[in-house]
Amino acid sequence: MYKQIGIITGGGDAPGLNAVIRAAVRTAVKEFGIKCVGIEDSFEGLTGETQTMKLTTRSVSGILPRGGTMLGTRNSGSFCCFEDGKVIFPDETVKAAIENLKKLEIEALVVIGGDGTLAIAQEFYKRGIPVIGVPKTIDNDLAATELTFGFMTAIDIATEALDRLHTTAASHDRVMILEVMGRHTGWIALHAGLAGSADIILIPEIPYSFESMVQKIFSREKSGSRFTNIVVAEGATEIGKSEIYKSVGDRKTAPRLGGVGDYIGQKIEEMTGKEARCVVLGHLQRGGSPNAFDRMLGTSFGACAVRALANGEAGKMVALKAGEIVNVPLSDAIANIKTVASDGQLIRTARDIGISFAAPKESRL
Ligand code: F6P
Repeated sequence: MYKQIGIITGGGDAPGLNAVIRAAVRTAVKEFGIKCVGIEDSFEGLTGETQTMKLTTRSVSGILPRGGTMLGTRNSGSFCCFEDGKVIFPDETVKAAIENLKKLEIEALVVIGGDGTLAIAQEFYKRGIPVIGVPKTIDNDLAATELTFGFMTAIDIATEALDRLHTTAASHDRVMILEVMGRHTGWIALHAGLAGSADIILIPEIPYSFESMVQKIFSREKSGSRFTNIVVAEGATEIGKSEIYKSVGDRKTAPRLGGVGDYIGQKIEEMTGKEARCVVLGHLQRGGSPNAFDRMLGTSFGACAVRALANGEAGKMVALKAGEIVNVPLSDAIANIKTVASDGQLIRTARDIGISFAAPKESRL
């Protein structure tokens, strides 16, 4: 049995990180008598002088409803860089961090993160460090798990935003566009669009056409609804075009998506003569308290991750499958991102109730 394990949170923060930390520490200490060390600011805490904190059941008390992560996080740094669109993990940095783990007497790691963070975790595992991953991201784009924690809270926030935009759109007879996060997938836009009664949902998995969008806006006008609510995923693309980026990134930083909502708003004003306004929901989707579901999922993931380590499992990620928490190979989780199936049940349901995805000739689908 391990004497001491380390806990790391990496990548963009997501509601529920503290719930995972709390459950992992409580399970380690109370159930298995294992001590816990928190590594600060993602893997960066393992570089140079190292930055860590002792985690006890007392130090994690009261953090369950708190947003963010008590350990700090980074979504860029020394452990990966971008070269010609490829991600490279600098060998020397990983080796030095492993030396530091030995000095700190940390025998295994619980790594809480999305695909980028878990890919770094895999590098540690390949070099002999027992690692268990915990799937985190508001984007829900991690393969090998049905859900990541943080996603459900993000949907709640985006849904509330859509509800609020509904009344102002209707009062002004405007087209309101809500740009939500999600990187290259449309999970947040699709779920919030359904829950928040969007009229048009634009996701990366279904490239959009302005003609189709305008047709939908005018057919609503004809039927007496002189406003339209659109939710657009930041990675959505117009047919034949590529994603819109706010910044292209560099060797150390990944490119940042953003701007598609404004682009659509301008085009719609030109094409329909109607007023359009865009709201970018941004980091509000990540901040603040996790909802009940994410507290519950984060707690289950945290406890099961430590149990898996204690049972001798490593190189795995805890995952949700058919309502159960299972362990899947870390390599499966990072191999591909999980995208929305363009003929999946939620898309069909949305179409059944008259929501448009602005695909060409959609009315004939
Ligand atoms: O992966 C989470 C996420 O919020 C994405 O949806 C978004 O594209 C990105 O992170 C934003 O990153 P940053 O916090 O660096 O702006």
